[in-house]
Amino acid sequence: MVRRASSLDWTHVSRVCADCGAGGAPVEEGEREKFAEHWIGPYRELRPDWAWVAERDRAVVGYLTGAPDTLAFEKERRRVFFPGPDSRDFFPQAVRLRLWTEHPAHLMLNVIADYRGFGAGAALLRAFFAELRRADAASVHLFCGPGSAGFFERMAFRAEAVVSPAPGLILRAMTRPVEGASV
Ligand SMILES: CC(C)(COP(=O)(O)OP(=O)(O)OC[C@H]1O[C@@H](n2cnc3c(N)ncnc32)[C@H](O)[C@@H]1OP(=O)(O)O)[C@@H](O)C(=O)NCCC(=O)NCCS
Repeated sequence: MVRRASSLDWTHVSRVCADCGAGGAPVEEGEREKFAEHWIGPYRELRPDWAWVAERDRAVVGYLTGAPDTLAFEKERRRVFFPGPDSRDFFPQAVRLRLWTEHPAHLMLNVIADYRGFGAGAALLRAFFAELRRADAASVHLFCGPGSAGFFERMAFRAEAVVSPAPGLILRAMTRPVEGASV
């Protein structure tokens, strides 16, 4: 079951984030809290209405966070959180600016390993796209590693930019219009 996140869900969202953060695998024990706060805090504080959770057996097993207005979100995130660099910064500034303006919405999505392959990721995306249609958003972007690129291609996203910040590591910026292929 997928539903919009409530204020009670954020600790669970942070747990799932830390369980998936190392390329789909758990982040090291001592890093979990800082890692989850970096990636989740801005959504919890700045765009709490743009978050959904997937539940199974009454536990949160996946989430989607996002924003319909990435340029404004990024300005607020920098002003409020003074965030350190992360994998998004491997993409040149010009690419990020193009994504923020031409594909203004963005999302992040994680499902715990044991619950992948049961449709939770697709259901979370469907909920997000339904809300984007209501908000008249035209196009979406995201950043992903090699493990999830196939999923997003299946969901009609296309690679807009690719970087390889280290040997063997490939990161993609992917985009898709809100209208068109169904999720
Ligand atoms: C990527 C992820 C969110 C997908 O969630 P999921 O719940 O496993 O996906 P679903 O079960 O909804 O899959 C929907 C469809 O995509 C396909 N699919 C899922 N993962 C895939 C992959 N890695 N490559 C290709 N296809 C994939 C499924 O087979 C299914 O296809 P179908 O409709 O033909 O049956 C999940 O695997 C995950 O959290 N991965 C690790 C973290 C990550 O990389 N997150 C993305 C960062 S933004």
